[in-house]
Amino acid sequence: PFILSIAGGGSTYTPGIVKSLMVRLEDFPLAEIRLYDIDGERQAIIAPVVEKVIRDHSQSIKFTVTTDPEVAFSGAHFVFAQMRVGQYKMREQDEKIPLRHGVVGQETCGPGGLAYGLRTILPMVELCDLVERHAHRKAWIVNYSNPAAIVAEGVRRLRPNARVLNICDMPVAAMRNMGAILGVDRHKLEVDYFGLNHFGWFTRVLVDGEDRLPELRRHIAKFGLLTEDAAQTDPQHSDPSWVKTWRNIKPIMDHFPDYLPNPYLQYYLMPNDIVGHQDPDYTRANEVMDGREKKLFAAAAEYQRTGILPDAFHVGVHGAFIVDVACSLAFDLRQRHLVIVENKGAIANLPYDAMVEVPAYITSEGPEPIRMGAAPLFQQTLLMQQLASEQLLVEATIEGSYEKALQAFTLNRTVPTMQHAKAILDEMIEANRDYWPRL
Ligand code: G6P
Ligand code: MN
Repeated sequence: PFILSIAGGGSTYTPGIVKSLMVRLEDFPLAEIRLYDIDGERQAIIAPVVEKVIRDHSQSIKFTVTTDPEVAFSGAHFVFAQMRVGQYKMREQDEKIPLRHGVVGQETCGPGGLAYGLRTILPMVELCDLVERHAHRKAWIVNYSNPAAIVAEGVRRLRPNARVLNICDMPVAAMRNMGAILGVDRHKLEVDYFGLNHFGWFTRVLVDGEDRLPELRRHIAKFGLLTEDAAQTDPQHSDPSWVKTWRNIKPIMDHFPDYLPNPYLQYYLMPNDIVGHQDPDYTRANEVMDGREKKLFAAAAEYQRTGILPDAFHVGVHGAFIVDVACSLAFDLRQRHLVIVENKGAIANLPYDAMVEVPAYITSEGPEPIRMGAAPLFQQTLLMQQLASEQLLVEATIEGSYEKALQAFTLNRTVPTMQHAKAILDEMIEANRDYWPRL
């Protein structure tokens, strides 16, 4: 049985991930679960909920809660990372500063994602070092920490040998919705997909050897990437904002034949439309703080008071997917999953060493990317520009370079002019004083 540490134990996602682990104990046996967070107070609120979720399924799994990295990682076999540097308060800034300049306000797309990257790269590298120092020699970090594309590139540059697998739940959430539309379990789908994280396209959706993508496109043209009644099996992605996001992919699909875009492409391909519908005084961070976060904190308080745990946390693909990936790593299952991985020719006309998002076989030594062929010129160009923006941001972080940060902001498709880039960057430097390296 494995020792598993969750870095970012105080996250609202932790109970859902642990619940997913509990229903898969036969596939992924656990001796111990450790929660680790630098915010001990926040983690202490979530921990009793997590403990209850564990005890409902197992009396024998040891449960440890700590802010000490040595305690957290000593001998650990797996680390699930989900850090949010600066927490939701800083997500709010990431979203609101660009919006004040008429630019998309989003946690991973546009200037918000770049700002979040400048906060997260170095702490993520620090986490890699702590795990390398304390954990099992063959330990894997499975990383959900955002902005995943930039974090992946930062870790590749600074710790090329770290055993980190970067993942995102968005492609698999899209597959869940496709499955719901087609009436088949998502595990039955075999997809082809190419791009960067939060920036890619499905090119094939096979069910029993038959490509159902044309059928899906016809459905999406009417209802978006959702079932007709928008019924979802997953609470995280079924609140009104997410329903809007899934529906809104219709315009970015309609005019482009063949492929099916990742919903996040709407931020890059129709930013005006997005900004027009965003409230600069109340963004997604506010929704999450007032919704998911409050609900979980209230449930934790109620549990302390009454001993009864209300069902207030999200269980769905987010938790299920990280457990799927961990199983494949642990037992060399070589399952095919969509992950973020060094290209190595998977997308023939992108740089060999770019961090791309494609299907890969997940072996015990890591992901083996599957060849997706060459991207058409339109997609290749978009991808190259986005890649350059992300790579310059990483270099800005490493070198403390204002100039490269400005280039990264300017190259981002959501940013119309260099003046916008500079104004937003300068405000963000102020807001991120406690977090960013000095530029
Ligand atoms: C998806 C993405 C994550 C992102 C999350 C935000 O799951 O894959 O990268 O962090 O959405 O969701 P939220 O509900 O917090 O806005
Ligand atoms: Mn993601």
